[in-house]
Order: sequence, then C-alpha cells, then structure tokens
Amino acid sequence: MIATKWLLGITGGIAAYKAPELVRLLKKQGADVRVVLSQGAKAFVTPMTLQAVSGHPVYSELLDPDFEAAMGHIELARWAEGIVIAPLSANRLAALAHGHADDLLTTLCLASTAPIWVVPAMNQQMWHHPATQANITILKDRGAVVIGPGWGEQACGEIGLGRMSEPQDIVNQLFPMYQPMKEQEANLQGLRILISAGPTREAIDPVRYISNRSSGKMGFALAQAAATLGAQVSLISGPVNLASPHGVERIDVMSANEMYNAVMTKAQDADIFISAAAVADFAVEKALSQKIKKAGATGLQLNLVATPDILAKVAALPKPPFCVGFAAETEQPEQYAKKKLQEKHLDLIAVNDVSREDIGFDVNVNELTVLSQHKTFHIPKNTKYQISLKLLQIIRECYDTKNKIKNS
Ligand SMILES: Cc1cc2nc3c(=O)[nH]c(=O)nc-3n(C[C@H](O)[C@H](O)[C@H](O)COP(=O)(O)O)c2cc1C
Repeated sequence: MIATKWLLGITGGIAAYKAPELVRLLKKQGADVRVVLSQGAKAFVTPMTLQAVSGHPVYSELLDPDFEAAMGHIELARWAEGIVIAPLSANRLAALAHGHADDLLTTLCLASTAPIWVVPAMNQQMWHHPATQANITILKDRGAVVIGPGWGEQACGEIGLGRMSEPQDIVNQLFPMYQPMKEQEANLQGLRILISAGPTREAIDPVRYISNRSSGKMGFALAQAAATLGAQVSLISGPVNLASPHGVERIDVMSANEMYNAVMTKAQDADIFISAAAVADFAVEKALSQKIKKAGATGLQLNLVATPDILAKVAALPKPPFCVGFAAETEQPEQYAKKKLQEKHLDLIAVNDVSREDIGFDVNVNELTVLSQHKTFHIPKNTKYQISLKLLQIIRECYDTKNKIKNS
C-alpha cells in the first residue's frame, strides 16, 4: 500500500519550528498532509504557517463544536493512512503511552488504525529519564516506529541525545517502506547484501572500554536504502543508538572479535559485503575481570593487540562476495584509500575525509569519493540516505561489470 494521506501531529517542543519544513518535504513526496497541533505546540509554531504550507486548515481543539458537527476527529482518524508525530514531547509521549484521550491528537491516535511513527525531541535528561524510557518502550512494543532522537547540541545548551531528527531524515524513513520507486525496486532485487556498521567496544575492565566516534548512521542508511531497493539485507551493528531499518535483519555485537565472528558466518552467503563499521584496530590483550582501582594505578600500561582485519579476511575467502570498504582518513584520503583497496584486494572503497567537521562522524550528511581499480566516482554532499542510494547504484554497476568479465 502506498500511503499518501498523512496526519502530522506536532507537540510542544522547541523543535516544532522545524515542522513546516517537514510538511514541505512530505508534500514533495506527493503526500496529502493534515496537521494537528497539541496545546503546547501552539506556543512554538503558528497554525497560520502550517495552514499555508499544508494547504489545509490546521486542527488543535478536541471540543470544537463546528469541527465535531460531522464527528471531525473520527473522520480524520479514518482518513489517515499514516500518522507521524514530530516533534513528540515527553508530555504527549506519556499521554500516548498510557492511552489518554485528553486532546485532539491523542484521541485521533486512539481512534485510528493507521501505523504511527514518532519523532521524540527533548532535553537529554528528559529523554534519559526512566519514565520517558518506559513510555517509549510501551509505544515500541505496540508497534510504533521511533525515529531518533539524534545526539548533539540542544536548544537548552546541553549536549546529548534528544535532538529531533532532521526533516529530510524523517521523510527518508517514512517513504522508503511505502513508496519504493519503480526503477529502484528492480535494482537490487535478488541480491544478498551484508553490511557492518557502527563502532566496536574493546573492554579494558568490566566498566571501561576503547572505542571510537562512529555513530553507525552511514551503515544504517545504507541498510535502509539497500532494503528499499529490493535487496535482502543483513546488518551487523556495533553499539549504536539507532532504530533498526525497516525490513532488515539486524545482529548486534559489541567487540571487534564478535563482529568478526558474525560477519564471517554471514559472508559465505552474501553477494555483496559493505564494511561501513569502524572496527577498533586494537584490543586490550587481556581485559581484566575486576575494575582497575584508581589508587596505585599511576603509570598504568595497557598491552594492545591487533584485532582481526575483517574486511581483508572476507576478501580473502575462496569465494569472496563483492567487497566494499570504507576509509576514514584525515590526510591524503585518496592516496591512503587506494593503498587499502590494493592491499586488501577490494572491489571498491568509499573515502570519507573525517578531518572535515561538516561531514562524516555522527552527522546526518556525508560526501564520498569512491575508488575502484580503474575508476573514481564522486558523490557530492547530501544526507547519508541519498548518498547511500548513489553508492548502491555504483556498487550495482561495478558488481555487474565484474560478473560479466568473470562469465565471459
Ligand atoms: C522553551 C521551552 C521549550 C521546551 N521544549 C521542550 C522539548 O523540546 N521537548 C519536550 O518534551 N518538552 C519541552 N518543553 C516542555 C513542554 O512544552 C511542556 O511539557 C508542554 O506541556 C508540552 O505540551 P504538549 O503536551 O502539548 O506537547 C519546553 C518548554 C519550554 C518552556
């Protein structure tokens, strides 16, 4: 089913100022959007703006005699094919989780059978509060899809998890599963794609570890895009704070060794392996079973050993899948990447210049240079989802060319 009738609920958080942009992007996808504001939302964004961008009256009152003359809330609940609430405040989240019907939005949600996506946004402390976490778990268990929240600087000046996902990323998550484009659907059909994503954690003792800044967003965007394009996708993820992409098999791991074992088990059956994980290069030789005490630990030394080179091991299999690596470099990115491509016998390598703050680690945009033995492709700056679509196109072309040569 293709959902075109979207109900957008906006609640009382500072991120409500991004909602008009979300309406605009939804409409760009061909969606018919009706907006419902909670009482709190009206303090952050005006009904007039939303009426202008959506092209329809905006609703917010439950006990509105004019609207209710035709049982307006039930009509609207029946009309909606998809409900997205962005931003979702902690207060409305609590109301939804506990089945309250004390405003128009929560009443509509109870009266509708449409699938619900929620995009929480709040202060990081509010997000981490056990009450909020319990409420979000209730919604998830009931089948709601949670988008975000993202990590970063907040309006209140704090830094942490709680930012509303960017409107373009919300749309990317809402539409792949509903409106796969015809030519994209055919694109990766029948292919089994294995993707690794996120960082790994190498234990020092039971409470400390070595890790890196990878957020997993690139690998997750690739997994979502590949599934949308028709591939059968397995995603092996290190510890990240991201919702599982729709239609993707997800396997969670912690350390480089666990990732190695999980990847090697799956690689035999994969047509394509995309190694987007930032696997730790070193692990502590012997992690301690007890917490190292601070007292007397001056001059403490850790013995590090190299972790398995997962990508090189996959590429060295007797029948390797088509292997795509990622290189995060801070200097001479292309030269280092080319060396990696040749030494590890890869088919493609995508290069990230992580010395740039605007792309790469833990942000929603990226820019890639993709190298094969004989070609160089450039994918200009865009959201990680759009970058993924382009990268998968390149992978598909090079995969077909390699198979043609092999079979000729
Ligand atoms: C300036 C300001 C910003 C706020 N931002 C948020 C926010 O981002 N997320 C949130 O959950 N609550 C936030 N709140 C608190 C909510 O606005 C408050 O809980 C309100 O009752 C929520 O209304 P609602 O239930 O209609 O969503 C903020 C309050 C103020 C005064």
